[in-house]
Amino acid sequence: MKRGGSEDAKRRAGESAADAVDDGMVVGLGTGSTAAHAIRALGREVDAGLDIEGIPTSFQSRELAHDAGIELTTLDESTPDIAIDGADQVADGHLIKGGGAAHAREKIVDAAADRLLVVVDDGKFADELDIPVPVEILPDARQTVADAVRAQGSDPELRRAERKDGPVVTDNGNLVLDCDFGPIANPTERAVALAELPGVVEHGLFVDLADEIHVGTDERVRIEEL
Ligand code: A5P
Repeated sequence: MKRGGSEDAKRRAGESAADAVDDGMVVGLGTGSTAAHAIRALGREVDAGLDIEGIPTSFQSRELAHDAGIELTTLDESTPDIAIDGADQVADGHLIKGGGAAHAREKIVDAAADRLLVVVDDGKFADELDIPVPVEILPDARQTVADAVRAQGSDPELRRAERKDGPVVTDNGNLVLDCDFGPIANPTERAVALAELPGVVEHGLFVDLADEIHVGTDERVRIEEL
C-alpha cells in the first residue's frame, strides 16, 4: 500500500510546509514518513524559540511531536490554524490517505484546520485516483461493509498486520478494508457513497480539503496552490 519517493524529496516537502508555520499557531500534525519530516523540522524551530502547539493525528505523530519537544493540545481546547499532512495519492487536488491507517483522525484534524498543507514526493501524483481506498470500519461491520462496497463495484480486502497475526487494528480499535474501485472518475460521489454505509467510521478519500501541496523532488520543492 505504501509507495515511496526518496527520503530527500520527502524531507524537502516536509521542511517547506514547516516553514509556513508562524509563532503562536496551533498546528495539526499529520502521520506518515513525509509528515514526520515536517514534525522534526518544527521541533528544531521550537528549539530555536518558535512558540506553537500541535494536535497529533495518531500515536505515531504524538510520539514524534513529544520527542521533538512540541507542546501538544487537543481539538477540545484549540482549532488548528494549519495542518500538515501526507498523502498516498494526489489527483486533481483530491487525495487518498490511510496507508498508515490513520486517516480517520487525520481527516478530523485536517478538516478542522484553517489551511491544509499536503506534503508529498512527486511520485504520488496520478491523472485519476486509482489506488485502493482505505475504509476504517467498526469490527462488527466487517461483513456488512464488505458486502456493501462489493455492491458499489469494489474489491475489498481486510488489511492484515505485518508483525502481528490477524488484522491491522487502528489507533481507534477498528479494522481497515482496502477497497479497490479502479480509477475513481467522481471522487465526491464515491466519498458520499462510502460515508453513508452503516459501520464506516471514515474513508481515505479527502475531497476538496487541501489548500496547498508541497511537492518534494530530488532537486527542489514546488508549491501548488489550490
Ligand atoms: C496515514 O494513514 C496516511 O494517511 C499518511 O498520511 C499517508 O500514508 C502518507 O504517508 P507517507 O508520507 O509515509 O507516504
